[in-house]
Amino acid sequence: MYIGCGVFPVTVALIRLCFWYPNLCKVEFNYSGWTSNHGMQLDKHGLQVFSSCCTSLTDLTLSFCTNVDDSGLRLLACFKKLMSLRLNTLPAITSSGLLQVAIGCKNLSSLHLIGCNKVGGAMWLEYLGRFRSLKELVVNRSFSCESLVDLTLARVSTKKEIGLRYLLRKCKALKNLCLYYVLGVQDNDIVTLSNNCSNLTSISLRLTPEFNEGHVFRTSLTDHSLKALALRCSKLQSFELIFWGCDEIWPEIGFTQEGLVMLIQSRPIRNLVLSGAHIFDDEGMKAISSAQFL
Ligand SMILES: *[C@@H]1O[C@H](CO)[C@@H](O)[C@H](O)[C@H]1NC(C)=O
Ligand SMILES: *[C@@H]1O[C@H](CO)[C@@H](O)[C@H](O)[C@H]1NC(C)=O
Ligand SMILES: *[C@@H]1O[C@H](CO)[C@@H](O)[C@H](O)[C@H]1NC(C)=O
Ligand SMILES: *[C@@H]1O[C@H](CO)[C@@H](O)[C@H](O)[C@H]1NC(C)=O
Ligand SMILES: *[C@@H]1O[C@H](CO)[C@@H](O)[C@H](O)[C@H]1NC(C)=O
Repeated sequence: MYIGCGVFPVTVALIRLCFWYPNLCKVEFNYSGWTSNHGMQLDKHGLQVFSSCCTSLTDLTLSFCTNVDDSGLRLLACFKKLMSLRLNTLPAITSSGLLQVAIGCKNLSSLHLIGCNKVGGAMWLEYLGRFRSLKELVVNRSFSCESLVDLTLARVSTKKEIGLRYLLRKCKALKNLCLYYVLGVQDNDIVTLSNNCSNLTSISLRLTPEFNEGHVFRTSLTDHSLKALALRCSKLQSFELIFWGCDEIWPEIGFTQEGLVMLIQSRPIRNLVLSGAHIFDDEGMKAISSAQFL
């Protein structure tokens, strides 16, 4: 069922629709082009009534619903079977409303979030990642990469040219970067980072072996990345490197001890974390003991 501007009063209409169509499972509201002559839009009260009479709903789209705010979003938990939710241009909603959706809508498997510009923090996203089994997530928010300062990407895949490299090229103001188990990350991504993010002060890499070109099974970044960081990221102060699932024999770590020492000695590193880095031995420790700012 598609419900546009002309349906008014919407609460009365919803009660009737649900009565005539008790199996209604997919509903879209779209108030694009709405003017006050159209009468009141769907609001919290309307959603409350709707949730009590439309018990089969699995798929809901709310587009340009200016009267739906965080308190309205909280009511979406009342749709017990809701699996797919699209929120398009809801100017009033914030992260706290979305967190309520993440907590309340236990069966959510698809979420589209488009043009909801007040949504900031990422607690809702973290909650979805940890406690829900989301299969599809689309977030389109025209935020400005140019002013992004902190960026954390965890357990995502990237591809050559698109994805990570494309993003990093634009993030000129980036100070803190965390890449946790990013599949497909390559030296060229880090080279791009070092060319374009001259203000980088902190980088955290968590790496696990993966199949690289030539089918070598090892962590994908090599000393080329360390060289690029050493050459261009003059403000780098904090460096964290955590390896998971690597072994001395196989699968290997892509970095060498020399490469790591070179980076640590050539930048004013104050904070250093190495974990699972068995390429490091007493020689390496001796070398970093001369790092001035550590
Ligand atoms: C909402 O309605 C507008 C105007 O009728 C239309 O252009 C737009 O595609 C619709 N949006 C969605 C998400 O269907
Ligand atoms: C949740 O979704 C699963 C299938 O994905 C379905 O079997 C189950 O009945 C749903 N739960 C509710 C409350 O609708
Ligand atoms: C993101 O949303 C804006 C405005 O709603 C739209 O113009 C743009 O095409 C969308 N981009 C993608 C990739 O969907
Ligand atoms: C880098 O940091 C300096 C000092 O905080 C700031 O003035 C400059 O605008 C930053 N550069 C970019 C590209 O954001
Ligand atoms: C990123 O750095 C490269 C190499 O210095 C440069 O050619 C490119 O213009 C930079 N990208 C942006 C968006 O500034």
